[in-house]
Amino acid sequence: MTAEQSPTDGAPARPADPPDAGLTIVPVTTRDWPTLRDVRLRALAEAPHAFGSTLEREVGYDERTWRERAGAGRTFLARLDGDVVGLVSFYAEEGREDERQVVSMWVAPRARGSGVAALLVAAVREAAANEGARVLTLFVADGNDRARRLYERLGFRSTGERQPLPSDPARGEERYALRLR
Ligand SMILES: CC(C)(COP(=O)(O)OP(=O)(O)OC[C@H]1O[C@@H](n2cnc3c(N)ncnc32)[C@H](O)[C@@H]1OP(=O)(O)O)[C@@H](O)C(=O)NCCC(=O)NCCS
Repeated sequence: MTAEQSPTDGAPARPADPPDAGLTIVPVTTRDWPTLRDVRLRALAEAPHAFGSTLEREVGYDERTWRERAGAGRTFLARLDGDVVGLVSFYAEEGREDERQVVSMWVAPRARGSGVAALLVAAVREAAANEGARVLTLFVADGNDRARRLYERLGFRSTGERQPLPSDPARGEERYALRLR
């Protein structure tokens, strides 16, 4: 995806059109590691129920870990007038070469409902397809109906595969999938 797209039709955004004025989706590079760390820790603090990891775990990551994450070329930030208002990342699960899994999806509360989330997923779709992936997957924690609704609107469907949520094994999470080609 290009850095700027409309949430509705994939066409280049016109900066004068609300709600997208000033919104850009940008790939993260190694030098962005402090920004990545900050937004990821913000996300884990704001929505601990939504993620498989925890703030307690990731607050302890060293600079090298953040640099590696940032430099992997698989993370995007949403910026609105200079502020970071969203994050998404993806990776290849071992043994699932045709797939890429969306992780770390987060939109700052003030930017929710604005189309940012769809733009972040579109960025991952394009990047994963460019790597040759055929399917995009993700896990949604039970009770996270807002995320579930977003992903279903974007074409993801439940695979029926379930597992304990790593950050809270008393709860479950379900795998969703979207065919890319
Ligand atoms: C999940 C998240 C990324 C979605 O971004 P968003 O900007 O809120 O998404 P949108 O508003 O575009 O779409 C959310 C949908 O859920 C609906 N919704 C809002 N609140 C809801 C609720 N409490 N229950 C069910 N659906 C809800 C919205 O109406 C919208 O559906 P619609 O377009 O059919 O009307 C964002 O809410 C977030 O960061 N949440 C915390 C972290 C998280 O859950 N990450 C995902 C991990 S899988």
